[in-house]
Amino acid sequence: MEKILEVKNLSTAFATDSDLITVLDGVSFDLIKGKTLGIVGESGCGKSVTSLSIMRLLPRPAGRITGGEVLYRGTDLTKISLGEMHKIRGNKIAMIFQEPMTALNPVQKIGDQLGESFRLHFPNMNDDEVRAQSLNMLESVGISDIRRRLREYPHQLSGGIRQRVMIAIALACKPDILIADEPTTALDVTIQAQILKLIKDLQKENGMSVMFITHDLGVIAEICDDVVVMYTGHVVEKGSVNDIFENPKHPYTKGLLESIPRLEHPRKTKLKIIEGMVPDLLNLPSGCRFGNRCPYIVDECKQKVPVLEKVLDAHYSKCLKHASFMKENV
Ligand SMILES: Nc1ncnc2c1ncn2[C@@H]1O[C@H](COP(=O)(O)OP(=O)(O)O)[C@@H](O)[C@H]1O
Ligand SMILES: [Mg+2]
Repeated sequence: MEKILEVKNLSTAFATDSDLITVLDGVSFDLIKGKTLGIVGESGCGKSVTSLSIMRLLPRPAGRITGGEVLYRGTDLTKISLGEMHKIRGNKIAMIFQEPMTALNPVQKIGDQLGESFRLHFPNMNDDEVRAQSLNMLESVGISDIRRRLREYPHQLSGGIRQRVMIAIALACKPDILIADEPTTALDVTIQAQILKLIKDLQKENGMSVMFITHDLGVIAEICDDVVVMYTGHVVEKGSVNDIFENPKHPYTKGLLESIPRLEHPRKTKLKIIEGMVPDLLNLPSGCRFGNRCPYIVDECKQKVPVLEKVLDAHYSKCLKHASFMKENV
C-alpha cells in the first residue's frame, strides 16, 4: 500500500490583530494510492484549512503553516517554491470546492475554461484535440448536450451541471490526487448521488486517490476506505471505515454516528445531536477538548490532555478511555 500523501504533524495558524490562533494542531494522516480518505467533523473543525494547507492556498498573509510536513510522493510540499507548487496544483493534485461558482470564471465560456485546463497541462495539443478532449471530459462527467455546453457561461448552468463542469476541469489533467471539499453539500440528494458515483467511476478508471471532506458520515460510509475524524483542529480518531462505523473509539465519533438518519427507522427514532457547542479555540477547556460535551467524561479527562493512541492496527483514538469505550456504548 503506497502512501501517496503523508500529512505529518501539520499545524496551521491565523494571525489576528491581537492573537495567533492555532486552527490545526499536529494533524497527521496518510492517503493511500487509489483509495478514498474521508475527513469528517462539524463545521469549524479545520477540514477546509487542512485542504488549503496541503494545497498552499491559505489566505495570505493571515494564514500560515506553523509546523509539520505534507509529503507528496516523498516531497515536502510545505518547503517547495510557489512556482513548483503551482505545477503540482491542478496537475498532480486537483481540488474541487463546495461552491463551483467561485471556482469558475463567470465571464469565460465553459469550453474555453476546460480548454485552458487541457492546454496548460498538455501544451502540445492542437485545437481539434483540445475540443475533442473537452467534449470527451464533459461526457464522462455525465453531462448531456455537450456541444452546446461548451458555448455556455457558468451562470447559464444549473448547480448540478456547474459542479460537474468543475469536476471535469479538475480532472482534465488526470491528477494523482483529488481533494474534494464538501463538493455535494449544496446539491440535492439525487445529484449528490450521481456526483459521488462519478468520482468513484473516474477513480476506478484512473487509479486516482481521493481526499473527501464532508460533515456527513453517511457520505463517508458510501465512498470512503479510511476516515479521519477532526475536532477543534485535532485528529480525534482515525481508522478504516469499518473501524469507525463498527467500533468507534471516541465519544465524538459516536455522537456523529448517532446523528446520521437511519434508513431502517425513517421517522420513528428522533435523531440525536451532540449537545453543546464546539469550544472557542482561544478558550479551550483544560484536558480533553471534547470534555465539555462528552457524556462519558470522568475527572481524569479534565486534567490529562489525551494523545492519539493506537487502538488496533491502523485504528487510533484520542480518548483516555478508548480502551473501555466499547461498541455496546453505541
Ligand atoms: N481566513 C480565516 N481567518 C481566520 N480564521 C479562519 C479563517 N478560515 C478559517 N478560520 C478558522 O479556522 C477554523 C477551521 O475552519 P475550517 O477549516 O473552515 O472549518 P471546516 O472546514 O471544518 O468547517 C475555524 O475556527 C475558523 O474560524
Ligand atoms: Mg469547510
